[in-house]
Amino acid sequence: MITYVDAETKSRRTSGVIPLHGEAGFAGMRKAGGLTARALDLLVEHVKPGVTTAFLDQLAYDFAMDHGAIPATLFYKGYRHSICTSINHVVCHGIPEDRPLREGDIVNIDLTLIVDGWYGDSSRMFAVGEISRKAERLIEVTYESLYAGIAAAKPGNTTGDIGAAIQVHAEAERTSVVRDFVGHGVGQLFHDEPNIMHFGVPGTGVELKPGMIFTIEPMINLGRPHVKILSDGWTAVTRDRTLSAQAEHSIGITETGHEIFTLSPRGLFNPLHPGEQAA
Ligand code: MF3
Ligand code: CO
Ligand code: CO
Repeated sequence: MITYVDAETKSRRTSGVIPLHGEAGFAGMRKAGGLTARALDLLVEHVKPGVTTAFLDQLAYDFAMDHGAIPATLFYKGYRHSICTSINHVVCHGIPEDRPLREGDIVNIDLTLIVDGWYGDSSRMFAVGEISRKAERLIEVTYESLYAGIAAAKPGNTTGDIGAAIQVHAEAERTSVVRDFVGHGVGQLFHDEPNIMHFGVPGTGVELKPGMIFTIEPMINLGRPHVKILSDGWTAVTRDRTLSAQAEHSIGITETGHEIFTLSPRGLFNPLHPGEQAA
């Protein structure tokens, strides 16, 4: 039995106010982010040739139900699935379907679990069997770019410092940063203030303060940055059909730096470096 969650009515704060969360919020995000990471860990062994993304969606849904969590995307603006599955040139918001995964595919799986009202939002890359060297390189650059952004997430820096760090790294590696989707405040809302752009100018934007909680989720393309949305109204693809990759953590700004809420308990966040923890 699916519980209806009207995520849309409380999906976006428009006041321009950036919430500052206290210890209770950090504790709530630890729990929600931790469970989201465990669910993504569970999917790792299932991602292989012949498996459908619809099956992976069912696994994520069942995991949520078994652990007292609700997938935030269910019924979100008419979306009907627990995860987004973005394969190869799909940039984000790919819809789970019955087409089997094929050897060599790279897939981003994005999951947000609501636990006790807190939203843990994370995505990572999965490799289907053996993948090409250029796909491996793109995944490496994407994770390095995310970690460069996270490294800039500390009090006194700005949102522009995060974006600039990501952009500088991605472009130095001759890849491009998608401009059309951004990271976002997260907490007791799915998408809150502030916006976190994955490109930008150091020192610009909003100053980061302890208690801010948001995602960083760069989408990096091997080709040009431009995207288009398919007729299903969701699936974003690269216009030039080059490969795209994404990785996302939910983090909180602390007095001294940041805390990552969505670390993999089993070190499975980066498919190319199993066993590795954070940056
Ligand atoms: N989890 C995505 C994010 O990182 C949002 C997905 S919305 C959906 O913000 F409806 F497309 F699922
Ligand atoms: Co997000
Ligand atoms: Co997400």
